[in-house]
This record gives sequence, structure tokens and C-alpha cells, in this order.
Amino acid sequence: MQRLESLHGRSFLTLKDFTPEEIEYFLDLAADLKAKKKQGITGDSLKGKNIALIFEKPSTRTRSSFTIGAADEGGFPVYMGADEIQLGHKESVKDTARVLGRMFDGIEFRGFSQDHVEQLAKYSGVPVWNGLTDDYHPTQILADFLTIREHLGRLKGVNFVFIGDGRNNMANSYMIGCGKMGVNCTIIAPRSLWPKEDLVEICRGYGKEAGSTLTITDSLDGVVGADVICTDVWYSMGEEEKAKERIALLSGYQVNKALMQRTGKDSTIFMHCLPAIKEKEVTEEVFESNKSVVFDEAENRMHTIKAVMVATLGEY
Ligand code: CP
Ligand code: NVA
Repeated sequence: MQRLESLHGRSFLTLKDFTPEEIEYFLDLAADLKAKKKQGITGDSLKGKNIALIFEKPSTRTRSSFTIGAADEGGFPVYMGADEIQLGHKESVKDTARVLGRMFDGIEFRGFSQDHVEQLAKYSGVPVWNGLTDDYHPTQILADFLTIREHLGRLKGVNFVFIGDGRNNMANSYMIGCGKMGVNCTIIAPRSLWPKEDLVEICRGYGKEAGSTLTITDSLDGVVGADVICTDVWYSMGEEEKAKERIALLSGYQVNKALMQRTGKDSTIFMHCLPAIKEKEVTEEVFESNKSVVFDEAENRMHTIKAVMVATLGEY
């Protein structure tokens, strides 16, 4: 595919920073790279590029995707775990950023603070990719949107429902991505877990441009007409002490067979970014059903993350 110049050299910190056309380009490039990989064709667009992978929090999919995505395109990924570097503890983020920027051509960061990933981008001078923070998980949205496109044939006008912890990184990122791409988004959560009002307003603004709606509700009736039902863990990484409180708060918001039927559509698909805790946010029955596309989503993490690295750093 032809390179999109506006993406070259850019960081990928939140989908707020990208136009619908740029998001569409990431998806098209990912689909192209996926088709090629299925034919055994990989590339060399990241040849000679050294890529730092910083993980303050654990990861299966994101780590694997950046590692394989980089290797498939000829890049050299280097993993740095939480206890292996001093980021934000003994050494300031600003100093670490300036050191890594002298040695690496691109940096992935997974951690707690959105401010840290933004500082890394500001001071390293190389593209920085957000592999999840407390606030956002933008690469996951690309994987999920590619998966929706594959299963439903479109994004615009799709009725997308997220049910569960309405103020976590996933809910925030779905609201942004859906607004940008014209996907009707409903967040179903108890009132104490509703997303921040200022972000809701920003995302409603995106939706106005793209012709889609954003609804926040505590009623399970919000699933009526859903094309996609999506959930996530009830307590995120770093919130383990909240487990008991959240289970009590969210037990009525489980994705189960009755909830899937309440959509009134036979075609509704089930999505989850994984890892999933069965019999909490989703039953084993729904997770394992033929409506569940969770492993397509997981695979698409790799193709979409590869596309982000290629589009922002690759020579092609
Ligand atoms: N969905 C996701 O980000 O998975 P990991 O935590 O395994 O990377
Ligand atoms: N909300 C979850 C997403 C995991 C991919 C977390 O932050 O733990």
C-alpha cells in the first residue's frame, strides 16, 4: 500500500489524535498485511529499526504482537520489564526518554500513567506507541474495529454496546474510536462507574461529525438492537484491591445467554479484549459460543499493531 505521509514519524498515544481517514488507513494497512502474512509474505519495512518494548504491567497479546509484528518486518524488538528499568523511579521519564531516543527508533510503552507515555513521546524524539495505560488502550480498538469489519462488513452505523466498568481504559477508548468512525456506542454501567462527563462530551462531538450517537445508561435495555456486545474485566490491572467491591457492583451486568438474546438479533457478536474472567463479566457459555469472536480479535492485535509500527516508522 501507498504510504500515508501524515502518519510517518507520528506517535500513537490515543485515537483522539487521528482523523477518521487515518484510522481507516491503519485498518486497511492491517488487512493488507494480514492477507500477505496468510500467504507467507512478510516485509522489510522496519529493517534496521530498533524497537524498545517497555512493560510496567503484564501482557500476553500486546507484547507478542509488538514482538512478532516488528520481527516480521525486519525490526529488532527489545523487551524491558517493570523491574528491569528505572522509569519514573530512580530516573525521570524525561531522562529515560532522551536516552532511549538516542538508541531506539521506536518505543512501545505499557504502564499506569498516560502522562508517562506522553512524556516519552515528547522527549524521546521517536515514535512512541501506547500499549495500554490506565486511561486508554488505543491499539486494542484498531484490532476490534478490524474484527467488526471482517464479521459485519462495515463499521459505520454498527450498534456497539460496551457493558461493565464504564470508566476504564477500554470504555474510554471505545467511546473515542466509535465517535471517530461513526459507530453508535452505548456504555452500560452502574452510575458510579460511568465515564467522565468531559470525555463523553468530546466523544459526542466526534459522533456528531461522523453521524453516530453515544448513549450512557445503567439499564440493560441498552442492549436492544446491538450488533456487538463487548465487555472487559470488572477490575483492571492495578485495581486488584477493588475486586470484591466491583464484583458486588457489577454482578447484574454479566454477559450471559439471556443478555445476548435481549438484543433481539440473532446475528449479535460477542467481543472481549482478553484476558477474561469466566463466570464474572461473561459466562463460559457465551465465551465459547459461535457468536464469540474473541480469538479473531486476539489475532488481529498482531496485524493492527504491525500496521501502526509500519505506518509510523516503516520505509515502504
Ligand atoms: N488485550 C490485551 O491487551 O491483552 P494483553 O494484556 O495480554 O496484552
Ligand atoms: N481494562 C483491562 C484491559 C486489559 C487488556 C486492564 O487494564 O487490565
